[in-house]
Amino acid sequence: MAEVSNENHFGNWSIPNLQKINVQELYTRQRQSLRSWFEFFNTSKFKTPLNIGTATRRLLANVEYFQTNYFIVIIILSIYCVITTPSLLFVLLAMGAGSYLVTIKNREKQLAFMGHQIPLPQQYAAVMALCIPLLIIVGAGSAIFWILGASVFVIALHAVFHQTPNQDAFGLQMQEMASSSDYIIEVRIDVLKALKIFGITATALTAVGLSAYYIHQRRQNSRRVILQDEVKHVLEPFELSDEQLRRVMANLNTQMTNGLKSNDSENNDLAMFPTFVNFRPNGQESGEYLVVDLGGSNFRVSHVTIEGRNRLRLKNKIFLIPHSLLLGEGEKLFDYIAECLQRFIDDNSLATHKPADYKFDLAFTFSFPCTQTSLSQATLVSWTKGFSCTGVVGNDVVLLLQNAIDRRQTLKVQVVALVNDTVGTLMACSSIYRDCRVGVILGTGTNACYFENLDNIPKCTGEWNQSTKQMVINTEWGALGKHGCLDFIRTKIDRELDESSLTPNEQVFEKMISALYLGEIVRLIIIDLVQSSILFPGRMQKAPSRACDYNIFLSLRGSFYAKHVADIECDTTEDLSVTASILTSIGIHDPTYDDCYIIREVCKTVSLRAAKLAAAVIAVVVNRVNMPSVTVGVDGTLFRHHVRFRKNLIRTMSRLVPRTHRLVLSEDGSSKGSALVAAVNRHTQETLTST
Ligand code: BGC
Repeated sequence: MAEVSNENHFGNWSIPNLQKINVQELYTRQRQSLRSWFEFFNTSKFKTPLNIGTATRRLLANVEYFQTNYFIVIIILSIYCVITTPSLLFVLLAMGAGSYLVTIKNREKQLAFMGHQIPLPQQYAAVMALCIPLLIIVGAGSAIFWILGASVFVIALHAVFHQTPNQDAFGLQMQEMASSSDYIIEVRIDVLKALKIFGITATALTAVGLSAYYIHQRRQNSRRVILQDEVKHVLEPFELSDEQLRRVMANLNTQMTNGLKSNDSENNDLAMFPTFVNFRPNGQESGEYLVVDLGGSNFRVSHVTIEGRNRLRLKNKIFLIPHSLLLGEGEKLFDYIAECLQRFIDDNSLATHKPADYKFDLAFTFSFPCTQTSLSQATLVSWTKGFSCTGVVGNDVVLLLQNAIDRRQTLKVQVVALVNDTVGTLMACSSIYRDCRVGVILGTGTNACYFENLDNIPKCTGEWNQSTKQMVINTEWGALGKHGCLDFIRTKIDRELDESSLTPNEQVFEKMISALYLGEIVRLIIIDLVQSSILFPGRMQKAPSRACDYNIFLSLRGSFYAKHVADIECDTTEDLSVTASILTSIGIHDPTYDDCYIIREVCKTVSLRAAKLAAAVIAVVVNRVNMPSVTVGVDGTLFRHHVRFRKNLIRTMSRLVPRTHRLVLSEDGSSKGSALVAAVNRHTQETLTST
């Protein structure tokens, strides 16, 4: 049972006593006044105070009684704050190291300045004074605020709710209300002294904290002013209102309807290709398939085993395509694909134990615009995404691949289906989500496909199982804007990028949002800002040796990647160190804080525009599907890795789509989905032959 005695507690707070006692004594006294932690945390002692008077009395008495425990609580909170603020920890360590150095030096000989010996305490004070600017820079002000706030909150909460020690003695809360005891009067007098010391210290610390905070804010604000005044108007054309987005949506909707009616590419933006996929996996599919996936940043060969009930096992390998092959002869590209296929089969011993006449079924995920007349007949309309091989446009790519395979006599493979990556993604997702009707790619390029009612596709002719009512349409929405319907939002940078690309006036929409172009848009804006002396002012003149690196970045197309955009826009470090190191890695040495700040702002704006536009077009397709709830299967680097892009996309979609919808990431969707298409195809063929 704790008893409150004058001697124990009041003495510790009195100022004359404080002056007399040495540190050792103080420590011993404080230790003696430490209450047991069991008592401190004893939950049976926590009671709501009856009124404000009781609360105040408890506060005063408990602060006195538990002073050492509270002191320890403050120390723990301070340690937590310092540990979680590494820069502050660093400065405090520097301060400690400085003081230690002073102690060592003074052991040998006391330090003197202009003949006057400087006492040790003053030397310590000097070390601390020297560290004050550093403390301000690393935000010690806010840390002090935090410690003060957190301590006052925790202590007040405990003190108000914990019954006072005299309640233990008498066991009645009513006792606590009796104002007659001398104890309370004495406590008040000495606690007032204590509060005075505490008040003075708190005021001093608050003043230091406030000044540090004020200076810090001033510095931040002055930086933002630069942005508001000069960069804003360069970025303004990239900011899209919901009204503009709705206009994009209306235009896309019209273009989709037009594209479904006819193949009039002179007037229509969108090809709206029928894919001859008019089924959804039903869990009955099985067998093993090879998939060759060409079209994104990688070329991939996969072996997919479907074990029924949508259980798929996938083994794959990514192969690099030499840049020369992307721009060379088409036949060489297809020979290279066949060679990789052979290597993959051999490395994984896939052909061992197979009958002599066994042929693998292969699905070709080919992510370029193709006119299909059946699942396995597809003519390439044009290359996109930086591919430009000769002799392929206008030809059947299934045949080109089959011929390359057949040229290698040992390769026993039959190409059974050509599948766009959006279709693969849709198939893979719809095998898991019953309401999945849309497949979207937000990666190197962009595109979407969805299930459309056959009644809405007047142009659809060719071979397919007529028993179904829907078919997957490959929209090729990347081409939106070809005939000017996006001109109202295109900026001069978009035009510049388009004109200098391999395919001017093609894939206008894709060039505004996809990963292949996002970095380039940012780079062109940076060039604009450099030319108007907003970025890197006078830097190149000051350091001619570095001008060369700067110039490489400024003149080399494609030297800034979408990954840079993603990393920079997520840079939340106080000194923007992530941005600075990315800029340094691409040749922009020693960027200033302002440079980094402006470039981060550019990245945020360009990525937000892309996310909003992506949301608008997905919204159109979801609305068109016209089901109470729709799942959209999505794949591609932008959606997969670009966190802010994804958040902004989802946020914008929730404003534009009235119906229930969700976006799900499709894992290895295009390969698995293409294998499922091949499986359904095999099943259909087998059924046809058996009837
Ligand atoms: C192609 C589409 C493809 C998309 C995503 C576009 O450039 O034209 O067919 O689906 O990229 O890979």
